[in-house]
Amino acid sequence: MKTKERPLRVALCGLGEIGRLHLQAIRNSPVAELVAVCELDRALADESVDDSVEIHSDIPVMLAGNGIDVIDICLPHHLHRPVAVDSLEAGCDVILEKPMATDLDGCDAIALAARSAGRRVGISHNQVFFGPHRRLAGLLEAGELGRVRSLYERLWMGGKYGGWREDSTKVGGGLLMDAGVHRVYMALTLGGPVREVTATMDNPRSEDSFSIALGFESGATGVIQGSYHGPDGMFDDRIEIQASEGMAEVLGCEAFFEGDLTGDTQLRARIGGRWLDDPVSDAWDESVRRSVGAILGSFAAGEDPEVGMEEGRNTVAVIEAAYRSAEDGRTVALEDLIERAPSGKRAE
Ligand SMILES: NC(=O)c1ccc[n+]([C@@H]2O[C@H](COP(=O)([O-])OP(=O)(O)OC[C@H]3O[C@@H](n4cnc5c(N)ncnc54)[C@H](O)[C@@H]3O)[C@@H](O)[C@H]2O)c1
Repeated sequence: MKTKERPLRVALCGLGEIGRLHLQAIRNSPVAELVAVCELDRALADESVDDSVEIHSDIPVMLAGNGIDVIDICLPHHLHRPVAVDSLEAGCDVILEKPMATDLDGCDAIALAARSAGRRVGISHNQVFFGPHRRLAGLLEAGELGRVRSLYERLWMGGKYGGWREDSTKVGGGLLMDAGVHRVYMALTLGGPVREVTATMDNPRSEDSFSIALGFESGATGVIQGSYHGPDGMFDDRIEIQASEGMAEVLGCEAFFEGDLTGDTQLRARIGGRWLDDPVSDAWDESVRRSVGAILGSFAAGEDPEVGMEEGRNTVAVIEAAYRSAEDGRTVALEDLIERAPSGKRAE
């Protein structure tokens, strides 16, 4: 593996809920060095970093400075596209929190900027790196569970996030485009490409609840349900898979973050008549740090990240298909929305 002789010089935009974990991941990375942060809340920036790190409140000003290799974007969704495009045009590789952008146009603008500049983009779909999810994906890949036939995912929450997350123009939608993004990329990771989507929602593009039926290219079917309507403080997410040789269930990833569930066995899988005897546990925040660390590692090695623009765009495409379906009551084929060619990847 080729690595750079010096650490990657990384700048982090946004030190809010998730930015704080990215900060830890950058500090933990053997291939990266934090050189700057950009944060509107000066007190938050001051308490987060020491004097060796430049503090900015204006992203273009920070980008105009010399020597930044990587920009890590932990900002509200509507800022993902403009900040990513500006950063790529400034010659940086980019890490983006989910979702890649608020719409497909945004994803395409980022991919175009990356191609033009010859830079890379990694999307932090952190739950791909959650231990039980990783183990389940590994079992499927190895064929131990056989073929996926049915997938069910849910996200039941009570009480909404405040701030910008209440503003659908900044989120790019409602619950589906916010926390629901994790359910969508996990469906694609475990079930493979989606052929068609049929959805119902209370208020598409500002939805508090949604139910999405997925038809996978493999012939498998899936359902993703999400709702904000639980009692205050509720957070329960899970994934269930029925496959030709067994079944598996992951009892929450973020639910553990909220402390709603206890116990240390998050993956339960039955293969034929036997239970998997090495159940695996993990913590949500670890998955975030691992995801960011993996992207930094691939940038340092001069490789495309495991989760990049193609995965980011495909996730937004399923969400867009769900919105269109909920708006006009028809089933939406992914054919016209999915980018199949690896054109979003960096041309060598
Ligand atoms: N992976 C996960 O589980 C997870 C969890 C939470 C949030 N997220 C994602 O992380 C991103 C950020 O969400 P959050 O919850 O951390 O938000 P947040 O509101 O907690 O933090 C955002 C920070 O960005 C700062 N900011 C806003 N505009 C800025 C600008 N122009 N320049 C500099 N700083 C600016 C704000 O002051 C704030 O501190 C979103 O994409 C969100 O979907 C992911």
